[in-house]
Amino acid sequence: MIGKVPTGIDGFDDMVKGGFLEKRHILLTGGPGTGKTTFAMQFLYNGAKTFKEKGLYISLEETPEKLLSNLKQSLKWDLDKHIKDGSLVIATVDKFDWSNLSDILQSYITRHGVKRVVIDPLTIMRMNTKDEFEFRRNLIGLLAFLENLDCTVLITAELPTVTREATTYSLEEFIVDGVVVLYNLPIKNERRFALEVLKMRGVNHSKSMYPFKITDKGIVVYPEEII
Ligand SMILES: Nc1ncnc2c1ncn2[C@@H]1O[C@H](COP(=O)(O)OP(=O)(O)O)[C@@H](O)[C@H]1O
Ligand SMILES: [Mg+2]
Repeated sequence: MIGKVPTGIDGFDDMVKGGFLEKRHILLTGGPGTGKTTFAMQFLYNGAKTFKEKGLYISLEETPEKLLSNLKQSLKWDLDKHIKDGSLVIATVDKFDWSNLSDILQSYITRHGVKRVVIDPLTIMRMNTKDEFEFRRNLIGLLAFLENLDCTVLITAELPTVTREATTYSLEEFIVDGVVVLYNLPIKNERRFALEVLKMRGVNHSKSMYPFKITDKGIVVYPEEII
């Protein structure tokens, strides 16, 4: 049996029968402002706080300082405590480069015994790669490299479309073990958050789209409600 890695996100773990599978690679996709960064950090924060697993957040878009200050502004999480005690590390890759990324991952994961990794977002990796062929080759190489390190990986990706119907997928959705899609749906004159598990290899996951909220405690999913 492969162990489970609970996200600790209320309502979400039930959708995936207890959590992600250990050492698997999951893509967290969605349009801008759909909660990808919040979800990803909550996975690490709960990991450090509740499950006593070390987390590494590779922030490629925002500097670690800006990422932290934004999160602290809107969420009542004691991130500083975990940064201080080393159970949460936020790093970046200056002038993104695939081999720098591998080096950083390798050194943190093996040196600090990191169990949960976030890379946010994949979009920056694509933008900094010569062409689509190189991107695919590098991404497949990175995932293979991560397989040999003992950790569960969540990678965020920007989806240009917001509707479920118009969503198109590219290589990354096919090669990862799991895909979670976040939406910010226009309903009447407001927007509502919703999410679905598009795939999760080896898990009999929920096939429905459920609403979620973001509060100062983070994301809460409502699997009883229908969007
Ligand atoms: N404490 C909060 N209360 C309500 N909404 C929040 C809170 N924190 C964040 N949000 C919402 O989440 C959105 C951004 O989430 P974020 O995780 O940065 O999304 P993404 O990474 O997908 O762009 C914000 O635009 C805001 O609407
Ligand atoms: Mg983000």
